[in-house]
Amino acid sequence: MNVSAIVIHEFGTPVEVVRVENIEVPPLDAEGAWVRVLASPINPADINVLEGKYPNRPELPGTPGMEGVGVVEKVGAEVKTLRVGDHVMLPHGLGCWREAAVIAEAEKLHVVPREVAVEQAAMLRVNPATALRMLRDFTTLAEGDFVIQNAANSAVGRLVIQIAKANGWRTISLVRRPELIEELRALGGDVVLLDNDEVKDQIKAATGGVPVKLALNCVGGDSALRLANALAPGGTLVTFGAMSRQPVRIPNGLLIFKDLRCRGFWITEWYRHASHAEESAMFAELFALAKRGLLHTPVERVYPLRDAVAAVKHAMQSQRGGKILFGAPEIAAQFSPQT
Ligand SMILES: NC(=O)c1ccc[n+]([C@@H]2O[C@H](COP(=O)([O-])OP(=O)(O)OC[C@H]3O[C@@H](n4cnc5c(N)ncnc54)[C@H](OP(=O)(O)O)[C@@H]3O)[C@@H](O)[C@H]2O)c1
Repeated sequence: MNVSAIVIHEFGTPVEVVRVENIEVPPLDAEGAWVRVLASPINPADINVLEGKYPNRPELPGTPGMEGVGVVEKVGAEVKTLRVGDHVMLPHGLGCWREAAVIAEAEKLHVVPREVAVEQAAMLRVNPATALRMLRDFTTLAEGDFVIQNAANSAVGRLVIQIAKANGWRTISLVRRPELIEELRALGGDVVLLDNDEVKDQIKAATGGVPVKLALNCVGGDSALRLANALAPGGTLVTFGAMSRQPVRIPNGLLIFKDLRCRGFWITEWYRHASHAEESAMFAELFALAKRGLLHTPVERVYPLRDAVAAVKHAMQSQRGGKILFGAPEIAAQFSPQT
């Protein structure tokens, strides 16, 4: 059977390589499920995939889209844990910018509670999981401990603020635009500052000298250095993004005299090693937070697949007010400019 999908035949300028085509999906077998895709975001990593600059990319021709959520429309005879109508997280690396898919091992799908909005569920697998894992897996934070981050207005940055708050950890968030300071404070950010050369003294004043154990870097360059300078001796700098495309340069003195630990994080690797039980436990935690109204990622617009070029162009604009997603017609209609 054929379904509509975004297909790339070559890597290059993102708006030039995306095309909408019909692709064939395999027949449903006894252990599979037919899932109609409801929503799938365009993340910065997807743009890197289109450019051919991401390590994990589809074989060509192929369909991009790292995460999304769908609704089960048919199940194979052997599938006991899913019902028609269930909302499910799409598997990592499926190529989610498509109308529908047949999922081979359907019982491995994670069912999304109905209280979690479709567009929010579509964005849980990458960014909230990244924020949670980085806060949990590199150092043990006690109640009241500080974590510092840059590009705090990013989807990940906003999630770090919310997850930290829910766990009693305090955040220092650096942003490049002053108009974001109040907004991130309202979201729960304890200290929100402009990411510039004055920030060192401002951090000291705001924390009262309480040591900062963990820094989350998604910018690189001078901004990463400001995070490293804010860390206490023995603190950990975790790099997970490179929005400025500038390298991270750590002065020798910070390594020798402060014994800073420089680590990296990639959620794709986490999923590669995680057991199904570990994935389930993490999603249970994320769903519970989402049900409390946390982990909300603002959405600027949802496009139907047929508007692939406009959607990718929009996703590449900086200073947006929220994420850009692809969505089934009923979801796109909820987030069109008229609504
Ligand atoms: N390693 C992993 O597993 C992993 C997982 C998820 C995400 N990521 C990475 O995390 C980063 C953020 O992803 P996201 O989905 O949260 O992004 P997003 O919501 O699209 O936000 C991008 C952010 O980057 C900021 N920014 C853009 N260009 C910048 C520059 N030159 N200097 C400083 N800041 C800049 C933007 O600031 P304004 O708001 O001021 O425009 C915005 O806050 C990306 O690099 C992504 O690839 C990595």
